[in-house]
Parts: sequence; C-alpha cells; structure tokens
Amino acid sequence: MKNFLKTSDFSREAIEELIEAALRFKSGEDSSKPLSGKSVALVFFNPSLRTRASMQVGIYELGGNSVILEPGSTSWTLEHRENVVMDTDKTEHLKEFVRVLERYVSIVGVRTFANLQNWEAERIEPILSAFEKYSTKPVINLESAMHHPCQALADMLTIREKFGKKKKKVLLTWAWHPKPLPMAVPNSFALATAQMGHDLRIAHPKGFELDSELLSEVERQAKENGGSVEYTSDINEAFEDVEVVYAKSWGSFQNYGDAEKEIKEREVYRKDWIVDEAKMAQTDSAIFMHCLPVRRNVIVTDAIIDSANSVVIDEAENRLHIQKAILAKLIK
Ligand code: CP
Repeated sequence: MKNFLKTSDFSREAIEELIEAALRFKSGEDSSKPLSGKSVALVFFNPSLRTRASMQVGIYELGGNSVILEPGSTSWTLEHRENVVMDTDKTEHLKEFVRVLERYVSIVGVRTFANLQNWEAERIEPILSAFEKYSTKPVINLESAMHHPCQALADMLTIREKFGKKKKKVLLTWAWHPKPLPMAVPNSFALATAQMGHDLRIAHPKGFELDSELLSEVERQAKENGGSVEYTSDINEAFEDVEVVYAKSWGSFQNYGDAEKEIKEREVYRKDWIVDEAKMAQTDSAIFMHCLPVRRNVIVTDAIIDSANSVVIDEAENRLHIQKAILAKLIK
C-alpha cells in the first residue's frame, strides 16, 4: 500500500482490514501511536471542515504532527503544467513543492477538486498525478476530481456499524442543488458500495449520468463481489424497498463548463428531487446518509436529516477512525 488514491486500488479483503482497524481505533482497543515523531503534510487547494479537522485530529491521536498548506493562500500559488514559461500568476512549480515537502514529512495528503470546466482534462487528475509522480512518500487523496476514497470508506464503515456484514439494498440518489457540483463523492460511494457487494440503485434525472468508465468499473466490481447495479430516472420508484439512502447532487456532462446553462436547465428538478418524508416512507426503514456539507430543505428536508434514521453525524465521525486506519497502514 504505497498510496491511497481510490478504493478500487484495493481488494475487498484490504478494505475489510481497514474497516476492522478503524473499529479498533473507534472502540479504543487500538491506541497505538505509529506516527510518533513523524509529520504529515495536508495540502488543501479547496475548503474543508471534516477532512481537515479529522485528518489533523487523527494524526495527533496517532502521535504525529500535521502541516497544513493552502496553495494560493497560506503557501505560494502553484503551477502543475510541464514545460511552461512561468511568467503569469503562478509562483512555484509542483515539481519543487512536492520534492521539498517530502523531505520534511512522511505522508502527503492532497485535496484538489474538479474545477468544472473541462471534464476530459480534469478526469485524468493532473494535480493529484503530479503529487503521485514527484513524491517518494505515500500520497492520500483527500478528494480529487474523480474520487473521495476517505469519505467512501467512512460511509462503508457507517453501513457496517448499522447493519453488520449483511448485503444491503442501497440507493445513491441525485438531488437538486442550485448549482452544479463535482462527482467525486458519488463516484467513490458507488465504487465502494459495489466493492462491498451491496445491491446498488443509482437514481438521477436523464442527462446526469456519471462518468461511463467509472460506471463500467462499478459494474465490474459489483459482479465480482456478488452485488448488482441498476439505474433509474424515476424519482417516484427510486426509493422503493431500499435500506440505505445516500443523497448527493452533481453536475451534468451535457453542460460541463457552462454553469449558467446548467443552473437554468436543472431548475425543473427542484421540486421533486429532494429527500423528504414521502420518499423515505417508501423505503424499508432506510438510514439517511450524506457526506456533508448539505443544504437543508434543498437536498433533504429538516424532518429527514433530523430523524432517528439520519446517520450523517456518525459518517462524519467515522472519517476520523477510517483515516487513522489508512494512515497507520501507509506508515507501515
Ligand atoms: N465530506 C467532506 O469531505 O467534508 P469537507 O468538505 O468539509 O471536508
């Protein structure tokens, strides 16, 4: 385990081991300090509450020290393109940034979202790839254009805590949001759910399909692990009999790079594509999940997020425990 970039780099067995290790950290059975005397860099190109706080606390609890860097804010603006004349606003090249940083620290975490301009350019993860290329130390993906693997494993840990090892009927549903959002969370949730062998239903309006290569991998993983994948664009049927509801909004490839057009076109989904009491009543007493931050009464009604079936705070807590398991594994 050199890097932690996406869940599909790991076997189901390896994911099971991480979940078991996270449960030992959570229960207090494991209070080891494998990062004692070591530092971990956390590089944030984008804002964060959960990822930043849970990584910092987790590193501290493992005996280590965290170094937070925010390119363009508390550290220099960064250029990632190769062979460019750096005569514009970028002060430092990633080649130097990463190679300097790895002389100080034992692990490097990086958050670099899609900027929602050009999917073909963004899906190959140029910034994350540069970290991977230039760092001889392990790199953790703290959310990139394609993946948010720490979130996905915290989600799998949460499902495990609520239901044990049983295969579940899981709905990943698109929800209306006033503007287009990245796809890393739904991508990683779908992938990890398939890797854990659950039966996955993905619901979204027509035109909001996820990346086709990613979905091929989700389908392959589901088949290999005894699960299934189905798709629907009918919000009135999507919730029927499911045991887990995971809500998330994301942007459409049809309007990728044209937010104004997308905002106008998605308006028609505002009324129906919200998780509310009527939809949850169709489920098999499903738990409600969301990675947070969430817009109340836009993605989900107050009644549902505040209900006994809502596990969003447990999911957020589980970021801490699963990331401690990931860090402990990487430092080995
Ligand atoms: N879910 C999640 O990654 O939260 P933050 O964006 O606050 O880190």
